[in-house]
Amino acid sequence: MQFTAMILSNAEVSPGYWRMRLTAPQEFASARPGQFVMVRVAGAIDPLLRRPFGIFDVGIHTPAQSGAVAQPYFEMLYRVVGKGTALLATLHETDLLDILGPLGKGFNLGTADEEKLIVGGGVGLAPLYLLARELVQQSTVRLFAGGRTRDDILCITEFERLGVECYTATEDGSLGEQGLVTEALIRRLDALKGRATIYACGPHGMLNAVATIAADRSIPCQVSLEGYMACGVGACLGCVAPGQGHSTETPDFRCVCTDGPVFESGELKWRD
Ligand SMILES: Cc1cc2nc3c(=O)[nH]c(=O)nc-3n(C[C@H](O)[C@H](O)[C@H](O)COP(=O)(O)OP(=O)(O)OC[C@H]3O[C@@H](n4cnc5c(N)ncnc54)[C@H](O)[C@@H]3O)c2cc1C
Ligand code: FES
Repeated sequence: MQFTAMILSNAEVSPGYWRMRLTAPQEFASARPGQFVMVRVAGAIDPLLRRPFGIFDVGIHTPAQSGAVAQPYFEMLYRVVGKGTALLATLHETDLLDILGPLGKGFNLGTADEEKLIVGGGVGLAPLYLLARELVQQSTVRLFAGGRTRDDILCITEFERLGVECYTATEDGSLGEQGLVTEALIRRLDALKGRATIYACGPHGMLNAVATIAADRSIPCQVSLEGYMACGVGACLGCVAPGQGHSTETPDFRCVCTDGPVFESGELKWRD
């Protein structure tokens, strides 16, 4: 669906990372973890294309004034990387944005009897909070959050409040263990002896590593891709990713916006 959303709040939560809350229609409450929105970041033609963002959370906003009407909302967590996101960071409460969504296929929640291991870093954590909120209803959930520095580890307190056990690792050692978060993931998988499902979102290198770890141990793993998108609805084919059987002789592509953005990791082609 396409709708005009009003910004309820827009705040920097860590250097370069922002969290925005926007009004949403009632129907938006059915958004699934892992789905995304396409946002027109400006009323003018530059930037022309909408920008894709994961849905961090959905809920009901209760205004402070007595008598005011409760309003459904959704939240985005975004990193300022270029023109569109820099524009978003200049917006204030009551500003309006044109939104298309919820779009795409989200995460499969799986069965209750396996521990759920969530792996993310930076804005890769964006689609994982709503996922964690649903998974804790049925399973033990652990979060493995990684980044270059402590600034990339976002909203951990919110995950902890859900009852998620959180591990953090940073490359410079400024928060949690020094090194890659995949090392803690491997230790947990070894302790669980395979009874787990992995969900991951983050930089491609991290997803590649997680997909390999999962494949080596025959652990089910779902990844959410964050490539480039122009339309978000399957019309431009600008977002395709190589499927598992892809080669120059036999092209095999997945459309990230309509087949994904969440895929079983074994469905995609990864670097060796
Ligand atoms: C399904 C999906 C969900 C996403 N969810 C989020 C989210 O929740 N939060 C968030 O912050 N971002 C998310 N992204 C990425 C986000 O869409 C881009 O960062 C954004 O479009 C950049 O717009 P811009 O105009 O600021 O940057 P541009 O001016 O378009 O680009 C600035 C720089 O960033 C690089 N860049 C742009 N897009 C990407 C990308 N997708 N990956 C890597 N580098 C990129 C460009 O190469 C360029 O160097 C998501 C992307 C997808 C496809
Ligand atoms: S973004 Fe246009 S087809 Fe996916």
